[in-house]
Amino acid sequence: MSVCVRLISACNTRMNGYPITMRDDIVRWNKKYRDGNSNPDLEPDSILTSHSDLLDGKGTALDLACGVGHNAIYLAARGYHVIAVDGSITGLRYGRAAIRRKKLPISLIAADLEHFTLPMAYFDVVLIVRFLYRPLFPQIKRSLKPNGLLIYKTFNINHHRKNPGFNEEYLVKHGELKKVFSDFHLIATNDSEGLEDNLTHLIARKPS
Ligand SMILES: C[S@@+](CC[C@H](N)C(=O)[O-])C[C@H]1O[C@@H](n2cnc3c(N)ncnc32)[C@H](O)[C@@H]1O
Repeated sequence: MSVCVRLISACNTRMNGYPITMRDDIVRWNKKYRDGNSNPDLEPDSILTSHSDLLDGKGTALDLACGVGHNAIYLAARGYHVIAVDGSITGLRYGRAAIRRKKLPISLIAADLEHFTLPMAYFDVVLIVRFLYRPLFPQIKRSLKPNGLLIYKTFNINHHRKNPGFNEEYLVKHGELKKVFSDFHLIATNDSEGLEDNLTHLIARKPS
């Protein structure tokens, strides 16, 4: 599969290279990534490396809000065809060179996930790390094939103590992921009322 970097936006009208309607969050992330890549070695998240036994490398994986593409690269190296989506084309460019060099089967898509439609029953793995947009939950569920693997790790309300300026809308409540994916077969989670960590994770399989 060839590497492709496409810009898909809710708005096709562009001004100075940017869609006119680009949301503040994406503008902020573009600026952040322009200031540098905090993961220059493109190291995968520990949620993947510590559960690598679950990743058989068969089929197609989706990395939602993939940032610089480090986790997508890990998934592709394990054998998956990967679709990696993020709103920041600046962030995606960091991963693009490595993807081309290693000839990995990853499609990078620049798109606003608040205006994005996922295909139904298409993915063997859906990965979301440090991103929360609740209206996508039903689509995330539907986009997995039966028996597909969900790997979700994101900031929870404890994060507010550490970073009071963080938008609470983007923080999961304790027990929330467990409840939302209660129809899935749970494999691993730290999602509980007494959680001290500021990141909640949940790994589960869609019923077959
Ligand atoms: C905390 S970073 C996480 C990146 C990566 N998953 C990781 O864990 O390193 C959040 C990512 O979400 C992306 N993002 C934020 N809002 C978005 C939106 N509406 N549509 C698409 N991407 C968005 C940002 O560009 C950024 O790369």
